[in-house]
Amino acid sequence: MSAANPVRTTILGCGYRVPDTVVTNDDLSGVVDTTDEWIQQRSGIRERHYMDDGSGSVALAEQAARDALDRAGLTAADLDLVICGSLSPDIDFPGNSYLLQERLGIPGVPVFDVRNQCSAFLYMLATADQFVKTGARNVLVVGSEVHSTGLEYADRSRHVTVLFGDGAGAAVVGPSPDPERGILAFRLHSEGANAENLCLLGPGSRRSPRLPADWTPEDIYTWPQMDGRQVFKHAVTRMGETIVDVLASQGLTPADIDMLLPHQANLRINQFVAKVLELDEDRVANNIDRYGNTTAATIPILLSETLAAGRIHEGDLVCLAAFGSGFTWGSALLRW
Ligand code: ACO
Repeated sequence: MSAANPVRTTILGCGYRVPDTVVTNDDLSGVVDTTDEWIQQRSGIRERHYMDDGSGSVALAEQAARDALDRAGLTAADLDLVICGSLSPDIDFPGNSYLLQERLGIPGVPVFDVRNQCSAFLYMLATADQFVKTGARNVLVVGSEVHSTGLEYADRSRHVTVLFGDGAGAAVVGPSPDPERGILAFRLHSEGANAENLCLLGPGSRRSPRLPADWTPEDIYTWPQMDGRQVFKHAVTRMGETIVDVLASQGLTPADIDMLLPHQANLRINQFVAKVLELDEDRVANNIDRYGNTTAATIPILLSETLAAGRIHEGDLVCLAAFGSGFTWGSALLRW
């Protein structure tokens, strides 16, 4: 480690929470014109979890946060900073971080929100890393989504609706007790030219009034819009590029990866990336079959599950990578 960077940041504990209600592909095929076969073949998804008790993404965030704190052997009172990511916040403003802070009972602690959709966990981790390097001890980062209340259950949106599920994942980030272990490098990218290829248009300030008097449920401002082919094409290219790039920054190659944890938007994207990088199945974690795309929550849920399954060992080289709405994408490399 150089003298300019005396602190190595690491993940001290992570946790997750998904709602109890499971929605299968067959359940969805009773609502929109789709089939279990189509969804599994095109995306790898079998089922997802939906929040159906009227609470939003903050309730899930709290449960994931408390799980992560427990696993780190800490309490909320130990936190110096909280960062939240969600594209499905409880309310439009202020962000989820303030509502979570209240639930955690830590008034006065700085909190803020990031808006990086599927790459949110990488952006939160990179931001937490900077704070830890400048003196913060324990930073809580939480991604949480309740997509199910914001999806259009109509045939024109079936290519979007079948992909998403609800969930929350969290990590407590702090100084590593071992300077050889922890976060080695990041790569973060974005490209606003593609912002409207995957977006939710409303309610937004460029339409006046934001919710027009003649609003109907058919208004496209109400529902996520996605050009799936554009997203797919960019995702397979950008994820591969950023993984190779972050490895190269440390003099490493894909052959050095012990475990890749890619964002879970589509199993076919991840299989394509794994093939290009020549990574066999044992070195790639996927759980999209059970959760769908949980956006900001995906990577910490996947990390929690992969750790619990004993698939990550001390000293392993772990790579995280994501691509999503923005467009935004990136990668992180950790020595576990
Ligand atoms: N069930 C049945 N048929 C469907 C469905 C469905 N749910 N959705 C679309 N179809 C039909 C289409 O109408 C089309 O029919 P046609 O040939 O008669 O016109 C056919 O299936 C093919 O449609 P495509 O959209 O071309 O299918 P594609 O193979 O591209 O798969 C998918 C669609 C799964 C959405 C894919 O494009 C994809 O995964 N894209 C990337 C998604 C992603 O990565 N999102 C990013 C993250 S999200 C975030 O950041 C918030």
